[in-house]
Amino acid sequence: MIKIPRGTQDILPEDSVKWRYIENKLDELMEIYNYKEIRTPIFESTELFARGVGDSTDVVQKEMYTFQDKGDRSLTLRPEGTAAVVRSYIEHKMQGQPNQPVKLYYNGPMFRYERKQKGRYRQFNQFGVEAIGAENPSIDAEVLAMVMHIYQSFGLKHLKLVINSIGDSESRKEYNEALIEHFEPVIDTFCSDCQSRLHTNPMRILDCKVDRDKEAIKNAPRITDYLNDDSKAYFEQVKQHLDDLNIPYVEDPNLVRGLDYYTHTAFEVMMDNPNYDGAITTLCGGGRYNGLLQLLDGPSETGIGFALSIERLLLALEEEDIELDIESEFDLFIVTMGEEADRYAVKLLNELRKNGVKADKDYLNRKIKGQMKQADRLNAKYTIVIGDQELENNSIDIKHMASGESEKVQLDQLVDYFKE
Ligand code: HAM
Repeated sequence: MIKIPRGTQDILPEDSVKWRYIENKLDELMEIYNYKEIRTPIFESTELFARGVGDSTDVVQKEMYTFQDKGDRSLTLRPEGTAAVVRSYIEHKMQGQPNQPVKLYYNGPMFRYERKQKGRYRQFNQFGVEAIGAENPSIDAEVLAMVMHIYQSFGLKHLKLVINSIGDSESRKEYNEALIEHFEPVIDTFCSDCQSRLHTNPMRILDCKVDRDKEAIKNAPRITDYLNDDSKAYFEQVKQHLDDLNIPYVEDPNLVRGLDYYTHTAFEVMMDNPNYDGAITTLCGGGRYNGLLQLLDGPSETGIGFALSIERLLLALEEEDIELDIESEFDLFIVTMGEEADRYAVKLLNELRKNGVKADKDYLNRKIKGQMKQADRLNAKYTIVIGDQELENNSIDIKHMASGESEKVQLDQLVDYFKE
């Protein structure tokens, strides 16, 4: 039997209603914050991610689904959304649009070859935003406030916003040198990934899952001590806005994020539920990227954004026992007795549906009792029973299922009745 590929999942109807609810709510929130939807291709040229996300990152080195197409181009299923949105921004010269900054959002599948575990998939769905064209602490604060608003609007309470600044490229350069100096004498005791990261991406050693308890990580130099005056001032202003907005946060100088393009503000929202026993607690991540556009041969504009996966949002909802307020109302189930009635019901259904009435009938020649059960399963608000007598008298009882009360209506007036 052919099975679903590892790390992917089917979203069955009982769950897809939740997805639709979440996605509709996210669309509504985006309208409130004035972000517009962008849809980019599922695959892009491999070079976009190698350059944009960074050659030395785990995502590029280990996790990409890369293939040659029949024209011998190297293409990659997108592992994240930012590089693609930035590519599109540059390609469509969005810096010239009258509405600035350009505020975009996206929602779609991403692909990473990762070890499967609870909350981690090989195909997952990221909802993300990118605000490009303003270097202003207030837009960083807007994005952070929006993230929290999104989670809270689904009723989540146990959340922790963790922030850090990884400074501008000048601060980062000095910090990387300090890290290399610090780790070099002990790097032999670290995992092979850390050893190869020492000179390519030393900041990544700080969030190594294998070596995280080592003394050398605990007493490593802190980025906060290497921020230059501009970077410090920027971070202070972002925090000031968060204080003004009464948004609680914790600072974590070891929050470095896994993708190379970040500068200044970096953040994650974590689950903060004391009873949760899963390994994955990060619900979303994001930050500012001041050099990414130029790195991709674009203008000198800067951006900030974040992405969350719907899978982890659902996981958090489950952990907090939150039921989404999903209405599943069905208008009418038609019970039929006999061939004539069934034939009439086919025509009637067609008319009802064309007029927007959610209606259905039996297709399995069930007995009346079985058909009634089917009406219950569908949570139908009304049922009617059509038999020879009803057809002859052009009269039907509409039964309101919740109250059990019935009302008599002319059969050929039924569509109008429901329209009203
Ligand atoms: P990221 O931290 O790699 O950042 O991913 C963001 C979020 O995507 C994670 O916090 C998590 O919710 C979800 N995610 C990532 N990998 C998986 C997976 N294997 N299974 C389920 N969910 C996953 C980015 O992708 C950046 N592009 C975010 C960003 C936007 N930064 C600036 N703008």
